[in-house]
Amino acid sequence: MKTIVLPAAEDLHIHLRDGELLKFIAPLAKAGGAGRVLVMPNLKPYIKNTEQALIYKKQLQLAEPELEYLMTLYLNPNLTVAEIQKAAENGIIGIKSYPKGVTTNSESGLENYEIYYPIFAEMEKYNLVLNIHGEMPSNEAQNICIMNAEEYFLPNLERIHQNFPKLRIVLEHITSKAAVELIKRLGITVAATITPHHLELTVDDWAGQNHNYCKPVAKYPVDRQALREVIKENNSKFFLGSDSAPHLKSLKENACACAGVFSSSHLMPYLAEIFDKLNCLEQLENFTSRFGQNFYQLKPLNKSIKLVNIPNQIPDSFKINFLKDELVPFWAGKNINWQVELI
Ligand code: DOR
Ligand code: ZN
Repeated sequence: MKTIVLPAAEDLHIHLRDGELLKFIAPLAKAGGAGRVLVMPNLKPYIKNTEQALIYKKQLQLAEPELEYLMTLYLNPNLTVAEIQKAAENGIIGIKSYPKGVTTNSESGLENYEIYYPIFAEMEKYNLVLNIHGEMPSNEAQNICIMNAEEYFLPNLERIHQNFPKLRIVLEHITSKAAVELIKRLGITVAATITPHHLELTVDDWAGQNHNYCKPVAKYPVDRQALREVIKENNSKFFLGSDSAPHLKSLKENACACAGVFSSSHLMPYLAEIFDKLNCLEQLENFTSRFGQNFYQLKPLNKSIKLVNIPNQIPDSFKINFLKDELVPFWAGKNINWQVELI
């Protein structure tokens, strides 16, 4: 029986939600093999300042004390230059920008990056990371829709990088060949996260299958191929951010489904399965641990996990009794060949 011992994963993009749901979700993220997570701020209301982020962090620590939490703020018009300094001094790692209206709780997102240039300058000074959800809002006149929204966004990334070459920027959950090519071409301060599901899905897998529907949507086979190739190339600009985004089953199996794939409960088994199939298991540790750690300038984690090559059936769902609802994980019901043990 093959086993692999690895450091616990750095999941550098996760949605842990809040309230009672958070108490359910945070422990599952640990069970999936994560050791440290970068927490997204798109709660309702969103996390707009350091104080709120620190309160949220305490709730997370109570829910699951054995995970390390890296906190982010939601880029918004009320964010001041002074708040950036305060954030940096209190250990906030990044500021997340959502273009207006493109995904869950992004109604307060931005329309024009230039108004944030003073904020970006301050972030550069205090070494905060800009985390970007890179999609343009759909626009009929410009022929922008969810299939090309990422590609149309890319000039914005390039412009921000040109103006702030020392600002570390992560283009989150990339889905397209165009994004892979641009990230490779830009300087070392620009990197990208990749999710397990975008290594696996194309448009055929989410059209009509709500549990695979997320934003940005999975694109064409040629795009998935580009993501797979860059993983195999062992390129340090591309690392794990699961974008695990749980929504209740009743809201997923709905005529108007919420966007988000829930993957944190089996994160490392999914990745072992995917990397094994791509014949690049030896690259897994760099992708799930080293590359992200280096980019974020984090100390190594002193927690390990063991991946074991034995049959593992993903549950159909997790019951959430207090809500009389369920959470359906990625690949629900599927038999895979890897399990994770916490050591
Ligand atoms: O599919 C998504 N779900 N994409 C996002 O950007 C947000 C996330 C969520 O919070 O549900
Ligand atoms: Zn996300």
